[in-house]
Amino acid sequence: MDNPSVFITRKVPEDTIAPLREVADVKMWDYEDTPVPRDILLEEAETATALYTILSDGIDRELFERAKHLKVVGNLAVGYDNVDVGAATEHGVVVCNTPDVLTDTTADLAFALLMAAARRIPEAEQYIKEGKWGNWSPLLLAGQDIHHKTLGIVGMGRIGESVAKRATGFEMEILYHNRSRNEKAEKELGATYALFDEILERADFVLNLTPLTSETKGMFNRNVFSKMKKNAIFLNVGRGGAVVEEDLVAAIKQGDIAGAGLDVFQKEPIPEDHPLVQLPNVVCLPHIGSASVETRKAMCSLTARNIRNVLSGERPEAAVNWDEIK
Ligand code: GLV
Repeated sequence: MDNPSVFITRKVPEDTIAPLREVADVKMWDYEDTPVPRDILLEEAETATALYTILSDGIDRELFERAKHLKVVGNLAVGYDNVDVGAATEHGVVVCNTPDVLTDTTADLAFALLMAAARRIPEAEQYIKEGKWGNWSPLLLAGQDIHHKTLGIVGMGRIGESVAKRATGFEMEILYHNRSRNEKAEKELGATYALFDEILERADFVLNLTPLTSETKGMFNRNVFSKMKKNAIFLNVGRGGAVVEEDLVAAIKQGDIAGAGLDVFQKEPIPEDHPLVQLPNVVCLPHIGSASVETRKAMCSLTARNIRNVLSGERPEAAVNWDEIK
């Protein structure tokens, strides 16, 4: 029998896919910066047994209809809103993701973004680099305190808990909103469950960590920003689709909120003339939540193991629709 075939849609470290090469013929789109063109992705999907994908690949119904041999999609991310899981399940394709291995790294980034936005760190660094530091003065580049402030976490899963843990070190009050109560966060981290509106009214930092679904799409809109405190900083380390960006720009320009820290955007990548990039009180990052070398390699290895397991008929470490298919 022929070996199964795996198509990897972006260049990944070779050592992380060694286990896959032992059991399958592996083909990799060998470019770091260039996404695989849609027609090539569809062509490869037609013959592949497995696809190893990244979060910017649109793995949709059209693809599943054409991919007659496909058994598994291993997505290199914890989020899988780029994959039509319903269509995958109908076609008997297992969809895998990479939870857990990125939890602490992403929480570190979320907290770094909070601190950068609150204490105006990118602006301050730019100030020196542009040769503007002539004198010290009492309120020069003064930002907002972080310690003892109120953090409102929207979406209290593993990453939310990990951010809350960091916030305890800063003696912050931690509010969270989630579809279901998180008793662990309440008991172990002293987090308090709050209604969404209560978070908006009380939090100094509102952090979105929700996955992108039909319920969360556009949930941070004009009305929501208008309910936040004027000194509030909005942070997004979930998905850009949760935010109506025009409304965020307007809210910041009008002074409804004080600023934002964003790792994710509605349509990525964003250009340098994007309205959010133009605002001095917004810190923008290019979707680097899980981007430490250790964690990205751990995610690559997990994706390879997930695919290998499915190809060998074993339960993968992380799949989102395994039980619906088996
Ligand atoms: C990154 O955004 C991920 O979902 O892993």
